[in-house]
Amino acid sequence: MLRCNEVTKTYGGLAALDGVTFSVERGEVFAIVGPNGAGKTTLFDTISGLAPATSGTITLEDVEIQRMAPNRICQLGLARLFQTSVSFSSQSVFTNVLVGSTFGRERGTRFRLRYPQESIDAALEALEVCDLYSKQELLAKQLPVIDLKRLMFASALATGASVLLLDEPFAGLNREERDELIELVRKINGTGVTVVMIEHIMKAVQALADRMLVLHHGQPIVEGRPAEVLSDPRVAEVYLGKSWSTKEDADAAGL
Ligand SMILES: Nc1ncnc2c1ncn2[C@@H]1O[C@H](COP(=O)(O)OP(=O)(O)OP(=O)(O)O)[C@@H](O)[C@H]1O
Ligand SMILES: [Mg+2]
Repeated sequence: MLRCNEVTKTYGGLAALDGVTFSVERGEVFAIVGPNGAGKTTLFDTISGLAPATSGTITLEDVEIQRMAPNRICQLGLARLFQTSVSFSSQSVFTNVLVGSTFGRERGTRFRLRYPQESIDAALEALEVCDLYSKQELLAKQLPVIDLKRLMFASALATGASVLLLDEPFAGLNREERDELIELVRKINGTGVTVVMIEHIMKAVQALADRMLVLHHGQPIVEGRPAEVLSDPRVAEVYLGKSWSTKEDADAAGL
């Protein structure tokens, strides 16, 4: 579904990404973890077209996207959520999602005075999936944190995305909210959407991910199923600078 091949991104003399290769299969939840500054967000910047890769190829369903503009990539079916929730705060929940379903779809960029019916239908469907249907008339600024997250998911889904990139979606949520979000990501994935998720909170990774990749200094170091990866001594080394022997060590690293 999504493949990065030898993706490199340099900023001046710094290689934020250095030969990153991995594939995500259709329908998977794929997690990307690694210490601060490992290059995780930069990887999303290159995939989503925000900061094009210096070299390497990125394919979305066999189409090379590494030189495409972000809006084009979105229209091809890849939507990205940023770590911070953003919205048109003085607009209704429904209008926010309509923007995604109108401009994020194929042929959706023409300026229109009226929203086409297919955009309205897609927005309502996304609101339903994200449990916001009954809140569609509220203003975005009236939403509590977890519903604002749901709004980001709904806006992304309304673009008709087949792949969602999530950058630390669980950051800043309390335990109850995390459980709600785990349910939502499962539900979205259950509709056939492939999920690629950067996450520091390992409970969420373990609950959701089919496979995961550990990045360190811009390089992929371990890839596999969560249980295998999290017990790999190289992963402990990256997080702690030593092998861990106790559960407290693992907890301290968020693992
Ligand atoms: N636009 C930029 N210009 C210059 N350097 C950048 C830019 N974006 C990222 N970097 C550098 O690239 C490296 C990787 O940063 P990145 O934000 O991708 O890390 P990360 O893994 O997402 O970290 P975190 O867990 O803190 O979010 C860092 O050294 C960062 O300073
Ligand atoms: Mg980051």
